[in-house]
Amino acid sequence: MKDETRVNHPPLPPLPQDNHSLLFPVYENVKWEFDSIDDSLRMIRGERDGYFYSRVSNPTVRQLELLLAGLQRRDDCVTCASGVNAIAQTLIALTQAGDHVLHFAEGYTPTRQLLRQFLARFGVRSTMRSIEDHAGIEQVLAGTPTRLVIFESPTNPVTKVADLAFITAAARRHGALTVLDNTFAGFHQHGEYDVDLFIHSLTKFATGAGDVMGGAVIGNGETMRRVRAEFRQLGSQLDPHSASLMVRGMKTYFVRYRAQSANALAVAQWLAARPEVVNVRYPGLPENRFHALASKQMRDFGVVVTFDLRAGAEAGRRFAEALALFANTASLGSTESLIVPPQMMGGKDLSPQEREWSDIRDGSIRLSIGIEDPADLLADLEQALLKA
Ligand SMILES: Cc1ncc(COP(=O)(O)O)c(C=O)c1O
Repeated sequence: MKDETRVNHPPLPPLPQDNHSLLFPVYENVKWEFDSIDDSLRMIRGERDGYFYSRVSNPTVRQLELLLAGLQRRDDCVTCASGVNAIAQTLIALTQAGDHVLHFAEGYTPTRQLLRQFLARFGVRSTMRSIEDHAGIEQVLAGTPTRLVIFESPTNPVTKVADLAFITAAARRHGALTVLDNTFAGFHQHGEYDVDLFIHSLTKFATGAGDVMGGAVIGNGETMRRVRAEFRQLGSQLDPHSASLMVRGMKTYFVRYRAQSANALAVAQWLAARPEVVNVRYPGLPENRFHALASKQMRDFGVVVTFDLRAGAEAGRRFAEALALFANTASLGSTESLIVPPQMMGGKDLSPQEREWSDIRDGSIRLSIGIEDPADLLADLEQALLKA
Protein backbone atom coordinates (compact mmCIF):
# COMPACT_ATOMS: atom_id res chain seq x y z
CA MET A 1 0.00 0.00 0.00
CA LYS A 2 1.36 3.40 -0.95
CA ASP A 3 1.43 6.05 1.79
CA GLU A 4 -1.12 8.16 -0.11
CA THR A 5 -3.52 5.22 0.22
CA ARG A 6 -2.46 4.31 3.77
CA VAL A 7 -3.43 7.72 5.23
CA ASN A 8 -6.94 7.28 3.82
CA HIS A 9 -7.35 3.77 5.25
CA PRO A 10 -5.76 3.95 8.73
CA PRO A 11 -5.43 0.73 10.74
CA LEU A 12 -8.32 -0.19 13.07
CA PRO A 13 -6.85 -1.14 16.49
CA PRO A 14 -8.40 -4.40 17.72
CA LEU A 15 -10.84 -4.09 20.65
CA PRO A 16 -11.08 -7.32 22.68
CA GLN A 17 -14.70 -8.48 23.20
CA ASP A 18 -14.19 -8.62 27.01
CA ASN A 19 -12.59 -5.18 27.30
CA HIS A 20 -15.11 -2.33 27.67
CA SER A 21 -14.71 1.43 27.55
CA LEU A 22 -16.61 3.09 30.42
CA LEU A 23 -17.75 5.84 28.08
CA PHE A 24 -19.51 5.19 24.82
CA PRO A 25 -17.27 6.43 21.98
CA VAL A 26 -18.18 9.59 20.10
CA TYR A 27 -19.09 8.41 16.61
CA GLU A 28 -17.96 11.64 14.94
CA ASN A 29 -18.76 9.96 11.72
CA VAL A 30 -21.06 10.42 8.75
CA LYS A 31 -21.03 7.03 6.96
CA TRP A 32 -21.24 3.33 7.79
CA GLU A 33 -20.99 0.34 5.50
CA PHE A 34 -22.17 -3.25 5.75
CA ASP A 35 -20.19 -6.12 4.31
CA SER A 36 -22.97 -6.82 1.82
CA ILE A 37 -25.06 -4.46 -0.25
CA ASP A 38 -28.15 -6.52 0.59
CA ASP A 39 -27.61 -5.71 4.28
CA SER A 40 -27.30 -2.01 3.45
CA LEU A 41 -30.59 -2.22 1.53
CA ARG A 42 -32.29 -4.14 4.35
CA MET A 43 -31.16 -1.52 6.85
CA ILE A 44 -32.39 1.34 4.66
CA ARG A 45 -35.77 -0.42 4.33
CA GLY A 46 -35.93 -0.71 8.13
CA GLU A 47 -35.69 -4.52 8.05
CA ARG A 48 -32.54 -4.72 10.20
CA ASP A 49 -30.69 -2.63 12.80
CA GLY A 50 -27.66 -0.62 11.96
CA TYR A 51 -26.40 2.68 10.71
CA PHE A 52 -25.88 4.03 7.23
CA TYR A 53 -25.78 7.83 7.27
CA SER A 54 -25.64 10.20 10.26
CA ARG A 55 -28.43 12.48 9.06
CA VAL A 56 -30.71 9.52 9.65
CA SER A 57 -29.17 7.98 12.78
CA ASN A 58 -25.93 7.91 14.70
CA PRO A 59 -25.02 5.77 17.74
CA THR A 60 -23.81 8.70 19.87
CA VAL A 61 -26.98 10.65 19.15
CA ARG A 62 -29.00 7.49 19.80
CA GLN A 63 -27.42 7.10 23.23
CA LEU A 64 -28.67 10.57 24.17
CA GLU A 65 -32.13 9.83 22.74
CA LEU A 66 -32.47 6.59 24.71
CA LEU A 67 -31.35 8.34 27.90
CA LEU A 68 -33.89 11.16 27.49
CA ALA A 69 -36.74 8.81 26.54
CA GLY A 70 -36.09 6.80 29.70
CA LEU A 71 -36.08 9.87 31.94
CA GLN A 72 -39.34 11.10 30.43
CA ARG A 73 -40.91 7.61 30.74
CA ARG A 74 -41.60 7.14 27.05
CA ASP A 75 -40.43 4.65 24.39
CA ASP A 76 -38.63 6.92 21.98
CA CYS A 77 -36.95 10.27 21.48
CA VAL A 78 -35.73 12.10 18.43
CA THR A 79 -33.24 14.93 18.74
CA CYS A 80 -32.48 17.83 16.43
CA ALA A 81 -30.61 21.10 16.12
CA SER A 82 -32.50 23.34 18.61
CA GLY A 83 -35.61 23.59 20.74
CA VAL A 84 -37.33 25.78 18.16
CA ASN A 85 -36.41 23.20 15.54
CA ALA A 86 -38.11 20.51 17.64
CA ILE A 87 -41.28 22.61 17.98
CA ALA A 88 -41.35 23.52 14.28
CA GLN A 89 -40.76 19.99 13.05
CA THR A 90 -43.32 18.52 15.42
CA LEU A 91 -45.97 20.96 14.24
CA ILE A 92 -45.05 20.28 10.61
CA ALA A 93 -45.07 16.51 11.14
CA LEU A 94 -48.47 16.43 12.80
CA THR A 95 -50.51 18.98 10.87
CA GLN A 96 -51.77 19.57 7.36
CA ALA A 97 -53.73 22.31 5.61
CA GLY A 98 -57.11 22.80 7.28
CA ASP A 99 -56.01 21.46 10.69
CA HIS A 100 -56.62 23.48 13.82
CA VAL A 101 -54.22 23.96 16.75
CA LEU A 102 -54.98 25.32 20.23
CA HIS A 103 -52.15 27.27 21.87
CA PHE A 104 -51.75 29.74 24.71
CA ALA A 105 -50.86 33.34 25.45
CA GLU A 106 -48.60 32.08 28.23
CA GLY A 107 -45.87 30.60 26.15
CA TYR A 108 -42.63 30.97 24.29
CA THR A 109 -42.91 33.71 21.65
CA PRO A 110 -41.40 31.70 18.73
CA THR A 111 -43.96 28.91 19.26
CA ARG A 112 -46.90 31.20 18.58
CA GLN A 113 -45.01 32.92 15.77
CA LEU A 114 -44.47 29.54 14.14
CA LEU A 115 -48.22 28.95 14.29
CA ARG A 116 -49.41 32.42 13.37
CA GLN A 117 -46.85 33.35 10.75
CA PHE A 118 -45.25 30.19 9.38
CA LEU A 119 -47.86 27.41 9.54
CA ALA A 120 -50.70 29.83 8.76
CA ARG A 121 -49.13 30.21 5.30
CA PHE A 122 -49.69 26.48 4.79
CA GLY A 123 -53.33 26.60 5.87
CA VAL A 124 -52.98 25.51 9.50
CA ARG A 125 -55.38 27.49 11.70
CA SER A 126 -54.81 28.29 15.35
CA THR A 127 -56.71 29.66 18.32
CA MET A 128 -55.15 31.21 21.41
CA ARG A 129 -56.55 31.12 24.93
CA SER A 130 -55.18 31.55 28.44
CA ILE A 131 -53.79 28.37 30.00
CA GLU A 132 -55.92 29.19 33.06
CA ASP A 133 -59.19 29.46 31.10
CA HIS A 134 -60.52 25.93 31.48
CA ALA A 135 -63.99 26.86 30.26
CA GLY A 136 -62.48 28.54 27.18
CA ILE A 137 -60.29 25.50 26.44
CA GLU A 138 -63.29 23.19 26.72
CA GLN A 139 -65.34 25.49 24.50
CA VAL A 140 -62.68 25.66 21.75
CA LEU A 141 -62.16 21.89 21.75
CA ALA A 142 -65.91 21.20 21.70
CA GLY A 143 -66.58 23.79 18.99
CA THR A 144 -63.68 23.24 16.56
CA PRO A 145 -62.20 19.87 15.58
CA THR A 146 -58.62 20.28 16.83
CA ARG A 147 -55.57 18.33 15.74
CA LEU A 148 -53.35 19.26 18.65
CA VAL A 149 -52.97 21.32 21.79
CA ILE A 150 -49.49 22.75 22.38
CA PHE A 151 -48.66 24.18 25.80
CA GLU A 152 -45.98 24.67 28.45
CA SER A 153 -45.73 24.12 32.20
CA PRO A 154 -44.33 26.10 33.94
CA THR A 155 -44.87 28.67 31.21
CA ASN A 156 -42.22 30.95 29.76
CA PRO A 157 -41.74 33.66 31.03
CA VAL A 158 -44.19 33.99 33.92
CA THR A 159 -44.06 30.43 35.33
CA LYS A 160 -47.80 29.74 35.40
CA VAL A 161 -48.49 26.05 36.03
CA ALA A 162 -50.83 24.31 33.58
CA ASP A 163 -53.30 21.79 34.98
CA LEU A 164 -51.94 18.72 33.18
CA ALA A 165 -54.72 16.34 34.22
CA PHE A 166 -57.39 18.75 32.96
CA ILE A 167 -55.72 19.66 29.65
CA THR A 168 -54.73 16.11 28.71
CA ALA A 169 -58.19 14.73 29.57
CA ALA A 170 -60.00 17.50 27.67
CA ALA A 171 -57.79 17.01 24.60
CA ARG A 172 -58.20 13.22 24.71
CA ARG A 173 -62.00 13.54 25.01
CA HIS A 174 -62.10 15.69 21.87
CA GLY A 175 -59.57 13.64 19.86
CA ALA A 176 -56.72 16.18 19.96
CA LEU A 177 -53.06 15.30 20.54
CA THR A 178 -51.21 17.05 23.37
CA VAL A 179 -47.71 18.46 22.92
CA LEU A 180 -46.11 19.73 26.12
CA ASP A 181 -43.02 21.92 25.84
CA ASN A 182 -41.49 20.61 29.07
CA THR A 183 -38.31 22.67 28.88
CA PHE A 184 -38.90 24.53 32.18
CA ALA A 185 -39.87 21.40 34.14
CA GLY A 186 -36.93 19.34 32.90
CA PHE A 187 -36.59 15.77 31.67
CA HIS A 188 -37.59 14.10 34.96
CA GLN A 189 -41.01 15.63 35.51
CA HIS A 190 -44.56 15.12 34.17
CA GLY A 191 -43.85 11.72 32.59
CA GLU A 192 -46.78 10.15 34.48
CA TYR A 193 -49.34 12.42 32.75
CA ASP A 194 -51.20 11.41 29.58
CA VAL A 195 -49.16 13.72 27.32
CA ASP A 196 -48.65 12.50 23.74
CA LEU A 197 -45.39 14.30 23.03
CA PHE A 198 -42.88 16.13 25.20
CA ILE A 199 -40.65 18.77 23.65
CA HIS A 200 -37.41 20.01 25.19
CA SER A 201 -34.88 22.64 24.32
CA LEU A 202 -31.69 20.70 25.07
CA THR A 203 -29.87 24.04 24.95
CA LYS A 204 -30.90 24.62 28.57
CA PHE A 205 -30.48 21.77 31.03
CA ALA A 206 -28.73 19.05 29.01
CA THR A 207 -25.27 20.43 29.73
CA GLY A 208 -26.05 23.47 31.87
CA ALA A 209 -22.93 25.04 30.39
CA GLY A 210 -24.57 27.06 27.63
CA ASP A 211 -22.18 25.52 25.13
CA VAL A 212 -24.40 23.52 22.75
CA MET A 213 -27.82 23.85 21.16
CA GLY A 214 -30.30 21.06 20.60
CA GLY A 215 -33.92 19.99 20.80
CA ALA A 216 -35.80 16.78 21.51
CA VAL A 217 -39.26 15.28 21.03
CA ILE A 218 -40.18 12.34 23.24
CA GLY A 219 -43.20 10.05 22.98
CA ASN A 220 -44.65 6.66 22.20
CA GLY A 221 -45.89 4.53 19.34
CA GLU A 222 -47.28 5.64 16.02
CA THR A 223 -47.20 9.38 16.76
CA MET A 224 -43.51 9.16 17.52
CA ARG A 225 -42.80 7.00 14.44
CA ARG A 226 -44.44 9.68 12.31
CA VAL A 227 -42.45 12.46 13.97
CA ARG A 228 -39.18 10.55 13.51
CA ALA A 229 -39.83 9.84 9.82
CA GLU A 230 -40.70 13.45 9.05
CA PHE A 231 -37.79 14.84 11.07
CA ARG A 232 -35.42 12.83 8.94
CA GLN A 233 -36.89 14.26 5.76
CA LEU A 234 -36.32 17.77 7.06
CA GLY A 235 -32.67 16.98 7.75
CA SER A 236 -31.70 18.75 10.96
CA GLN A 237 -30.00 15.98 12.90
CA LEU A 238 -28.16 16.83 16.10
CA ASP A 239 -24.44 16.39 15.52
CA PRO A 240 -22.65 13.60 17.44
CA HIS A 241 -20.21 15.94 19.15
CA SER A 242 -23.06 18.00 20.66
CA ALA A 243 -24.84 14.77 21.62
CA SER A 244 -21.72 13.50 23.44
CA LEU A 245 -21.41 16.78 25.36
CA MET A 246 -25.05 16.40 26.36
CA VAL A 247 -24.63 12.78 27.51
CA ARG A 248 -21.67 13.98 29.60
CA GLY A 249 -23.66 16.96 30.91
CA MET A 250 -26.61 14.77 31.87
CA LYS A 251 -24.46 13.01 34.50
CA THR A 252 -24.84 16.14 36.66
CA TYR A 253 -28.40 17.00 35.56
CA PHE A 254 -30.17 16.17 38.82
CA VAL A 255 -27.52 17.82 41.00
CA ARG A 256 -27.69 20.98 38.89
CA TYR A 257 -31.47 21.12 38.54
CA ARG A 258 -32.05 20.66 42.28
CA ALA A 259 -29.29 23.06 43.36
CA GLN A 260 -30.60 25.68 40.92
CA SER A 261 -34.19 25.12 42.11
CA ALA A 262 -33.10 25.57 45.75
CA ASN A 263 -31.31 28.81 44.83
CA ALA A 264 -34.36 29.97 42.84
CA LEU A 265 -36.58 29.46 45.89
CA ALA A 266 -34.13 31.45 48.05
CA VAL A 267 -34.11 34.27 45.47
CA ALA A 268 -37.92 34.24 45.14
CA GLN A 269 -38.35 34.40 48.93
CA TRP A 270 -35.85 37.23 49.21
CA LEU A 271 -37.49 39.21 46.38
CA ALA A 272 -40.96 38.68 47.84
CA ALA A 273 -39.81 40.39 51.05
CA ARG A 274 -38.41 43.50 49.29
CA PRO A 275 -40.50 46.68 49.22
CA GLU A 276 -39.23 47.60 45.70
CA VAL A 277 -40.56 44.32 44.25
CA VAL A 278 -44.10 43.19 43.45
CA ASN A 279 -45.73 40.21 41.88
CA VAL A 280 -43.01 37.57 42.38
CA ARG A 281 -43.89 34.50 40.31
CA TYR A 282 -42.26 31.21 41.33
CA PRO A 283 -44.37 28.06 41.76
CA GLY A 284 -42.17 26.91 44.66
CA LEU A 285 -43.24 29.87 46.81
CA PRO A 286 -45.92 28.66 49.25
CA GLU A 287 -47.94 31.84 48.69
CA ASN A 288 -47.82 31.48 44.86
CA ARG A 289 -51.31 30.81 43.49
CA PHE A 290 -50.03 27.82 41.50
CA HIS A 291 -48.17 26.29 44.45
CA ALA A 292 -50.79 23.64 45.30
CA LEU A 293 -51.07 22.50 41.68
CA ALA A 294 -47.29 22.60 41.22
CA SER A 295 -46.82 20.53 44.39
CA LYS A 296 -49.19 17.92 42.98
CA GLN A 297 -47.49 17.77 39.57
CA MET A 298 -43.82 18.51 40.26
CA ARG A 299 -41.03 17.43 42.56
CA ASP A 300 -38.71 20.36 41.75
CA PHE A 301 -40.11 23.78 40.90
CA GLY A 302 -37.53 24.97 38.39
CA VAL A 303 -34.98 27.71 38.02
CA VAL A 304 -36.93 30.67 36.61
CA VAL A 305 -38.21 33.47 38.85
CA THR A 306 -40.19 36.35 37.32
CA PHE A 307 -41.17 39.58 39.08
CA ASP A 308 -41.96 43.26 38.58
CA LEU A 309 -40.24 46.33 39.94
CA ARG A 310 -42.66 48.79 41.50
CA ALA A 311 -40.70 51.61 39.79
CA GLY A 312 -41.37 50.21 36.28
CA ALA A 313 -39.51 49.24 33.12
CA GLU A 314 -36.75 51.88 33.14
CA ALA A 315 -35.86 50.93 36.72
CA GLY A 316 -35.74 47.34 35.39
CA ARG A 317 -33.17 48.39 32.80
CA ARG A 318 -31.00 50.10 35.47
CA PHE A 319 -31.37 47.04 37.72
CA ALA A 320 -30.30 44.62 34.96
CA GLU A 321 -27.32 46.74 33.96
CA ALA A 322 -26.20 47.11 37.59
CA LEU A 323 -26.10 43.35 38.23
CA ALA A 324 -22.62 41.85 38.16
CA LEU A 325 -23.41 38.12 38.38
CA PHE A 326 -26.48 37.94 36.09
CA ALA A 327 -25.83 38.18 32.33
CA ASN A 328 -28.34 40.22 30.29
CA THR A 329 -29.18 37.63 27.67
CA ALA A 330 -31.55 35.00 26.35
CA SER A 331 -31.78 31.38 27.48
CA LEU A 332 -32.10 29.80 30.91
CA GLY A 333 -31.03 26.77 32.87
CA SER A 334 -27.29 27.36 32.75
CA THR A 335 -25.19 27.08 35.90
CA GLU A 336 -24.57 30.84 35.84
CA SER A 337 -27.46 33.22 36.54
CA LEU A 338 -29.13 35.21 33.75
CA ILE A 339 -31.62 38.05 33.48
CA VAL A 340 -34.09 39.11 30.80
CA PRO A 341 -34.88 42.81 31.43
CA PRO A 342 -38.29 44.31 30.51
CA GLN A 343 -36.92 45.72 27.26
CA MET A 344 -35.89 42.23 26.08
CA MET A 345 -38.97 40.36 27.32
CA GLY A 346 -41.09 38.47 24.76
CA GLY A 347 -44.80 39.03 24.28
CA LYS A 348 -44.54 42.35 22.42
CA ASP A 349 -46.56 40.83 19.56
CA LEU A 350 -49.59 40.03 21.74
CA SER A 351 -52.88 41.95 21.50
CA PRO A 352 -53.98 43.83 24.68
CA GLN A 353 -56.37 40.98 25.58
CA GLU A 354 -53.70 38.32 24.98
CA ARG A 355 -51.12 40.32 26.90
CA GLU A 356 -53.47 40.45 29.87
CA TRP A 357 -53.77 36.65 29.70
CA SER A 358 -50.00 36.32 29.40
CA ASP A 359 -49.41 38.21 32.67
CA ILE A 360 -46.29 39.85 31.19
CA ARG A 361 -46.34 43.41 32.53
CA ASP A 362 -44.41 46.41 31.20
CA GLY A 363 -41.80 46.08 33.97
CA SER A 364 -41.60 42.28 34.16
CA ILE A 365 -38.13 40.81 34.67
CA ARG A 366 -37.18 37.14 34.25
CA LEU A 367 -34.30 35.58 36.17
CA SER A 368 -32.75 32.20 35.50
CA ILE A 369 -30.93 31.12 38.63
CA GLY A 370 -27.63 29.26 38.52
CA ILE A 371 -25.58 27.33 41.06
CA GLU A 372 -23.56 30.23 42.42
CA ASP A 373 -23.45 30.70 46.18
CA PRO A 374 -26.93 32.03 47.10
CA ALA A 375 -25.54 34.70 49.44
CA ASP A 376 -23.51 36.14 46.54
CA LEU A 377 -26.62 36.19 44.33
CA LEU A 378 -28.70 37.96 47.00
CA ALA A 379 -25.93 40.52 47.64
CA ASP A 380 -25.73 41.24 43.91
CA LEU A 381 -29.52 41.61 43.65
CA GLU A 382 -29.52 43.95 46.65
CA GLN A 383 -26.82 46.31 45.34
CA ALA A 384 -28.56 46.43 41.94
CA LEU A 385 -31.97 47.14 43.54
CA LEU A 386 -30.44 50.04 45.45
CA LYS A 387 -28.90 51.42 42.22
CA ALA A 388 -32.17 50.95 40.24
C1 LIG B 1 -39.93 26.95 26.76
C2 LIG B 1 -38.95 27.01 25.64
N1 LIG B 1 -39.12 26.23 24.56
C3 LIG B 1 -38.27 26.25 23.53
C4 LIG B 1 -37.18 27.08 23.52
C5 LIG B 1 -36.29 27.12 22.31
O1 LIG B 1 -35.10 26.46 22.50
P1 LIG B 1 -33.80 26.74 21.59
O2 LIG B 1 -33.27 28.05 22.04
O3 LIG B 1 -32.95 25.57 21.90
O4 LIG B 1 -34.25 26.79 20.18
C6 LIG B 1 -36.94 27.91 24.62
C7 LIG B 1 -35.78 28.82 24.61
O5 LIG B 1 -35.66 29.70 25.43
C8 LIG B 1 -37.86 27.88 25.70
O6 LIG B 1 -37.70 28.68 26.77
